[in-house]
Amino acid sequence: MDVTEREESRQKIESLNAELESRVLARTAELRATNEELSQTLKTLQLAKDQLVQSEKLAALGSLVAGVAHELNTPIGNGLTVASSLEHRVQTFSGLLDAGMRRSDLQSFVDETRLAAEIITRNLSRAGHLVSSFKQVAVDQTSSHRRSFTLASLIAENLLTLNAVTRKYACRIEVQVAAHILMESYPGPLGQVLTNLINNALLHGFQPEDSGRIVIRAETVGEGWVELTVGDTGKGIDPDNLHRIFEPFFTTRLGQGGSGLGLHIVHNIVGGVLGGRIKVDSV
Ligand SMILES: Nc1ncnc2c1ncn2[C@@H]1O[C@H](COP(=O)(O)OP(=O)(O)O)[C@@H](O)[C@H]1O
Ligand SMILES: [Mg+2]
Repeated sequence: MDVTEREESRQKIESLNAELESRVLARTAELRATNEELSQTLKTLQLAKDQLVQSEKLAALGSLVAGVAHELNTPIGNGLTVASSLEHRVQTFSGLLDAGMRRSDLQSFVDETRLAAEIITRNLSRAGHLVSSFKQVAVDQTSSHRRSFTLASLIAENLLTLNAVTRKYACRIEVQVAAHILMESYPGPLGQVLTNLINNALLHGFQPEDSGRIVIRAETVGEGWVELTVGDTGKGIDPDNLHRIFEPFFTTRLGQGGSGLGLHIVHNIVGGVLGGRIKVDSV
């Protein structure tokens, strides 16, 4: 190789090098931009997920309110009907006062008034009982406070607020929880866990007309631990899906009332604020 030839190849190599370098620089810049875009997208997605989680919680509160309205309707309606017929009865009775009355008129007025008062009292105290149960659940759901409570009463209160939904299904809900199990925990989040699991059992396990059972069971296991099981005799979970059900957005009912966030929330609550563990079985 002569000198000119060597010089030529040196120049070629140099220019190749320069080109390579500028290509690397350009590519690096491109990658950096893509990276930024990706992390922006990730942030947006995270935000969207947080909002969805929030709206799933709001939906729970919404159905709570709908439940209150529905359940109160009956006792208040009954009370109102009886009160207004009583009002009418008093009017005709006062007419008799002027026209003159027999002893039997007085007797039947007393009997009817007593009965009406009984019905009104019973219905209003039913309404009062409902309101205080709902109030407890609403306070629990909107704050994450720790307090002591009996597990059985927490379950009963939450079932009461779910009545508007569960009454549309033929399947029975059985509670096998000893009355003495006392918890020092977070009733709101625990109530949300129960609500999500029961809603899932109904939505995914059964058709409204299906007979079947949802069983809520609790046992103390060792010092300071409770094992809470929510089981159903519904159609079960496909073995292929079993390991995916706690993933956010995993749902087999996309566009049919499923968000795929229910069990993700349950998983987070149990592992987070409740300090427990969760597992799933399907047979
Ligand atoms: N009790 C159940 N019976 C049958 N399948 C269930 C049950 N609970 C959950 N699943 C399955 O797990 C999936 C995820 O549940 P979830 O996170 O609550 O989302 P979503 O209820 O919005 O679909 C459901 O789509 C369903 O396929
Ligand atoms: Mg669900």
